[in-house]
Amino acid sequence: MDARPLLSDFADTLVVDSQTEADREAHAARERWRLPVPRYLREVYTWAYVAPYVRRVFDHQWVVAQILWYQDGALMRSVLEEIAAGDRVYMPASVYGHFCIDMAQKAAPGPVTISDISTIQLYGLRKKRRLHALKNLFIRRANAAEPIEGPYDVAVSFLLLHEVPEDYKVAIINRLLDQVDVGGKAVFVDYHKMTWWQPLWPVMAFVAWWLEPFTFALWKKEIADYATSDRRARFSWTKSTSFGGLYQKIVAKRIA
Ligand SMILES: C[S@@+](CC[C@H](N)C(=O)[O-])C[C@H]1O[C@@H](n2cnc3c(N)ncnc32)[C@H](O)[C@@H]1O
Repeated sequence: MDARPLLSDFADTLVVDSQTEADREAHAARERWRLPVPRYLREVYTWAYVAPYVRRVFDHQWVVAQILWYQDGALMRSVLEEIAAGDRVYMPASVYGHFCIDMAQKAAPGPVTISDISTIQLYGLRKKRRLHALKNLFIRRANAAEPIEGPYDVAVSFLLLHEVPEDYKVAIINRLLDQVDVGGKAVFVDYHKMTWWQPLWPVMAFVAWWLEPFTFALWKKEIADYATSDRRARFSWTKSTSFGGLYQKIVAKRIA
């Protein structure tokens, strides 16, 4: 799969009517009331998020732990720390394991909305909601490039950006920021360029090259730099990295 942006002439600024794949699919969803699974998700990630067997294989916390080199607890806790009881929370793509449940429990009685584009992921999420009787968890089908309208106190992107092409990164980041209420925050947890001494460097570079080609962009570019300058200015940004730089957490607090 070619990891270049889907439209090579994609402009620096976010133009809502532009002809990126993200925008075309968002438009299709609005106009024709159908939500196609994005091309990159079909071509690159069917084995992980779309095929009928994926939940049986991946939807277990111990599997998530292994994929994240046992940093799952620390990464997930760092997001949960940003959420207070009663907060309005939004996450535009679901996560395997118990993270979605933890998030709904932490924010309760605040409404937690989680959307996804993959039918099997929505099915899994609904099953978890039933099992845990989570009355404050709302599950919607949506393309993350066209998020469910807020406002929210906390908007979370958890390991989503490294899985999407460049035009999706722009659309997701900018539109997620738009849904954050003044005083609220957007939290992005994702991969990052490792320090030279991180021993997993060659392994993770190989995994990115083999399975996750959109990761490399996050090694080179700051998440804040995907936001348009006016949006960037409306937020105060803090960044931290962990596990030898493999993971980053960005908190963008809306100040205006
Ligand atoms: C958040 S990401 C990765 C999280 C992490 N690797 C895990 O353990 O689940 C995975 C989810 O993103 C969803 N996804 C990917 N692209 C999407 C898009 N454009 N719109 C909505 N959901 C999307 C997939 O269907 C999948 O459920």
